[in-house]
Amino acid sequence: MSKPDQYNVEIPSNEVKDSNIKYFTTYTYGCQMNQHDSERLAGQLKSIGYEYTESLEDASFILINTCCVRESAEKKIYGKIGELKNLKVSNPNLIIAIAGCMAQKDKEKLFKKAPHIDLIIGTHNVHQLVEIVKEFEESKDRVLAVWDQAERLAPDVPTIRRGKISAWVPIMYGCNNFCTYCIVPYVRGRERSRPLHDIIEEIHQLGLDGFKEITLLGQNVNSYGNDTKEYGDFADLLKAVDQVETIERVRYMTSHPRDINDKVINTILNSKKICDHFHLPVQSGSDAILKMMNRGYTTDYYRELVRKIRKAIPHASLTTDIIVGFPGESDELFQETLEFLKEIRFDASYTFLYSKRSGTPAATMTDQIPLVVKKERLQKLMDVQNDISLEINQQFTDTVVTVIVEGPSQRDENRLMGRTTTNKIVLWDKQGTEEVGQLANIKITTAQTWILKGKLID
Ligand code: 5AD
Ligand code: SF4
Repeated sequence: MSKPDQYNVEIPSNEVKDSNIKYFTTYTYGCQMNQHDSERLAGQLKSIGYEYTESLEDASFILINTCCVRESAEKKIYGKIGELKNLKVSNPNLIIAIAGCMAQKDKEKLFKKAPHIDLIIGTHNVHQLVEIVKEFEESKDRVLAVWDQAERLAPDVPTIRRGKISAWVPIMYGCNNFCTYCIVPYVRGRERSRPLHDIIEEIHQLGLDGFKEITLLGQNVNSYGNDTKEYGDFADLLKAVDQVETIERVRYMTSHPRDINDKVINTILNSKKICDHFHLPVQSGSDAILKMMNRGYTTDYYRELVRKIRKAIPHASLTTDIIVGFPGESDELFQETLEFLKEIRFDASYTFLYSKRSGTPAATMTDQIPLVVKKERLQKLMDVQNDISLEINQQFTDTVVTVIVEGPSQRDENRLMGRTTTNKIVLWDKQGTEEVGQLANIKITTAQTWILKGKLID
């Protein structure tokens, strides 16, 4: 079961729920950029008088922000959209809006598949929600707002945030890479960098509002500034962000291994606030597959990059994304990926079954891999990676790590959660002296594959 998004706003209790107030709720699928788009959509709804609720039944506006990077996400979302049909029957005034990458890809086809949808909002139209709602209220007719291309720069809109401590800040939109499996360039358009001044201003303000950590977002952050000569490059941006006094930590995602360079590595090395965590999606450990994926690098190039990073910042953590079952991936080529994983020893790998996305070059490649084979390979990959992750995490046992206290863990109110600069999740039993947003030193007692557990020390 998917859960509604949670925002850092007060939720009215049942007793004070006012029948004159209109409530909205949102469900978001997919990447951080999509999560942040929901924050901007929710902010706009709040600006026209809607209040947030977690309850589908109380909502008079339900927004689903969608992802189409893999078929499995699409299936789940269609299921969710189907579930809303009954609500619409019992409340004909309910407004149902579909935003995000599926909206951009399928456009009016969504109306045909699910006639109970009222609004379809493309990835380039997020900033227009207020106008779209107004148009709907005036015309009482469904609205399709899907531009084929983005404006160079979408204007800023009111935003409400998910967290209190950590915030997302987009630095660029779109992707020019056209990896052969990937739908993103088709639904998010060409690369557009946000003005440096706007980014710095937003981060400064977030710091004043109490946020401690920001994550710079982009499909390919290393291309920052490539589309215009006005703002410098990604390293220049990192240097400028590092100097924003009001915040403590800076993360970024996602990097393309081909575009991360010595200047970026040195900037991170010499920075005070940029976290020592590198997420560098390798996608495959086979040169033949990397070529077919149009990734623009070889395994030797990647090895050298990792060597450089580890030489410059030995304690940095390294994570990756891997796709198994790309067309033409033989057992031997898959074995190369397994060996590569063992050689590089990533802290963590996010592993995916290749999913055929129509319209992408890989969808029409011959030698598509059967699902059962893909699943077997995924399992093998995860087994190898889990062992490595555990071994790496065990090295932290009995050491002291520093985290920013983010709040209670998802499962247990009495347990707190924080992350290290290397992005390790740390849990400990609440002592009562901790304050959300403060730094805490934790002595690690138990290491697991995905998390570290420990005790607060003074
Ligand atoms: N099938 C499977 N995984 C994909 N990704 C992108 N497109 C596909 C696809 N068609 C993965 C990549 C990317 C991550 C965000 O999603 O590994 O890095
Ligand atoms: Fe997709 Fe490749 Fe662009 Fe990443 S870099 S969004 S995988 S096309």
